[in-house]
Amino acid sequence: MNELDSLVESAQQLFAQALTPADLENAKAQFLGKSGKMTELMKGMAQLSVEEKKSRGAAINVAKQAIESLLTARRKALADAELEAHLKAEVLDVTLPGRRRGTGGLHPVSLTLERIEGIFGSMGFDVAEGPEIESDWFNFTALNTPEDHPARSMHDTFYVEGGTQHAPNLLRTHTSPMQVRHAVQHVKKYRNLIDAGQSMPEIRVIAPGRTYRVDSDATHSPMFHQCEGLWIGENVSFKDLKVVFTDFCKTFFEQDDLVLRFRPSFFPFTEPSAEIDIQFQSGPLAGRWLEVAGSGQVHPNVVRNMGLDPEKYIGFAFGMGPDRLTMLRYGVNDLRLFFDGDIRFLSQFQ
Ligand code: PHE
Repeated sequence: MNELDSLVESAQQLFAQALTPADLENAKAQFLGKSGKMTELMKGMAQLSVEEKKSRGAAINVAKQAIESLLTARRKALADAELEAHLKAEVLDVTLPGRRRGTGGLHPVSLTLERIEGIFGSMGFDVAEGPEIESDWFNFTALNTPEDHPARSMHDTFYVEGGTQHAPNLLRTHTSPMQVRHAVQHVKKYRNLIDAGQSMPEIRVIAPGRTYRVDSDATHSPMFHQCEGLWIGENVSFKDLKVVFTDFCKTFFEQDDLVLRFRPSFFPFTEPSAEIDIQFQSGPLAGRWLEVAGSGQVHPNVVRNMGLDPEKYIGFAFGMGPDRLTMLRYGVNDLRLFFDGDIRFLSQFQ
């Protein structure tokens, strides 16, 4: 192998070893730069004869061109490799399905609450909300529930800090405290009318919300929902309770042949009291009596705690379980499903 061929070969090896464009330009300088090997060879031709110059010059040129094209090829190879690495780093598979933002929806119990509010709203009921941490007074005492009443037991009730030893604060065990809370506000608003012996506008309100009891199985959860209803006026009777609640149930379940039963019961804050059962005439639950609410005529002591004269004002209250209503409406048999937060279950209601 002559001197020029081995020069080309060593250029090829050096270029191949260059792994970056900067390395490659350094390698190039060794051959084609000002004091590079090819330039030295050209300079060395000065002493040669004209004939020799011609043939030697041509041979050097061939070698120089060979090195230049090796250089160009290596430059391109390095550029390609760089591009390739770049593309790999930010790989984007355009055939993947797009990531869609899921559409949210209301929880089935929220759907029920909206439905309840809509139906009672159409019957002229306001909607009121109250605190979940409640005082002993509103949760029990104001509701004619004596201090030794079993509902106050530590087994039933979540007591929280605050309040006094004899009147501790607690997580409300029902929405009934809203009866007195709301009525007191209403009475305050119309105090002048009442004191002047005139009629105040009737209290007609529902109060939905979360309630708490120490209880947990397939049909009881330590947190559950209730919706209170209250209608107080000068001439509101048990008959009105029956009409209103029957109307509500038929509308809620969209079943005109639904049958209701008012079963005598006891609550300290109503007298007389009734448990309300419903019976479907068709569908999987047909024929069974299903308890949906407690109710009754508001006890005179409670009317008094509202700031009203029980000789003049009378009315009814009811408390129902929206969780239960949701289970009945959709045919769900385990209450806990509503609170597990499993999207596969919840998305069925959208
Ligand atoms: N608060 C009662 C309960 O939780 C239900 C009820 C409300 C009963 C209003 C009568 C009147 O069981």
